[in-house]
Amino acid sequence: MQTRCATAVACPNIAFVKYWGNRDDELRLPANGSISMNLAGLETRTSVAFDAALERDAFTLQGIPQTGEALARVSAHLDLLRARGDSAWKAKAASESNFPAGAGIASSAAGFAALTVAAAAALGLNLSARELSILARRGSGSASRSIPHGFVEWYAADRDEDSFAESIAPPDHWPLVDLIAVVDAGHKKVGSAEGNRLARTSPYQEARVMDAPRRLLLCRRAVIGRDFATLAMLIEEEARMMHQVMRTSTPPLDYLEDSTRDLMRSIPQWRAGGLPAAFTLDAGPNVHCICPENAAPEAERRLREQPGVRRILIGRPGPGARVVAVDGAGNGRAP
Ligand code: DP6
Repeated sequence: MQTRCATAVACPNIAFVKYWGNRDDELRLPANGSISMNLAGLETRTSVAFDAALERDAFTLQGIPQTGEALARVSAHLDLLRARGDSAWKAKAASESNFPAGAGIASSAAGFAALTVAAAAALGLNLSARELSILARRGSGSASRSIPHGFVEWYAADRDEDSFAESIAPPDHWPLVDLIAVVDAGHKKVGSAEGNRLARTSPYQEARVMDAPRRLLLCRRAVIGRDFATLAMLIEEEARMMHQVMRTSTPPLDYLEDSTRDLMRSIPQWRAGGLPAAFTLDAGPNVHCICPENAAPEAERRLREQPGVRRILIGRPGPGARVVAVDGAGNGRAP
């Protein structure tokens, strides 16, 4: 039997400076650079088995066989890796996460980072972290940031080979906690791929993108200097700006729920009252409450008291994507 398989694990990440909108949708070259923190505690584990006998790719998500767009997106991503590995073998990919998919917890980031790393290992490709980040980006933009560890910056660029993510500080640099208040774990109505395409239809997007270098500099400095007060103001501004672009796109996108808006009011008030905590959001209604480790128990207690908060997921600065197993016979290359 000619098969070659590997398993990889990746964390999702939460962006402090947001990716929203591309300069090139096909290549997923982002309109602006972004900065994020990987989230240990949340993880996606993906196995990829290339098999000479398979006629088509197959993909299961949480054990459920996928068809249509979900399968096509994974298959297109495997094509990129097959091209790098000079292989024509089809594959079975299986992905399991310990957090709900499609609810603003960047499931595609962890998913495509793990898929890229597993497929590259299965094909026996010896790729650098930079090359893996570039490939992961092609599957889902934010996945580029789940390849390196800890606190990460993804560079905007005009060429495929220049847009990748790098670590700016390791996970143990700053003990921050992301308390993810899940207000609705349902699948989102408009996926980020479609949302990213709509970003340019908002008149606010140009202003957001033009101002990004200033916010990236502030964020980089805040992370390196462990300056929570600056980070808090910045991430809330970022979340509001991104959702303003979403709301003013054509057609408009409104990912927020009433309970999201309540938390967007409460968390800054807690901070004004002395509790270091700040919110950010992704393309979904859940609220990411970021705080230093010593403020996390009190912030978590308050979040649990908020109406509409169904559960709380917890992430801490996390590792990069990594291979956890490689096995099988043959080299995954077409005979
Ligand atoms: C709102 O990376 O999910 O989470 O490239 O189309 O897969 P695709 O989009 P995705 O975009 C989500 C971006 C965000 C903000 C961020 O993580 O920077």
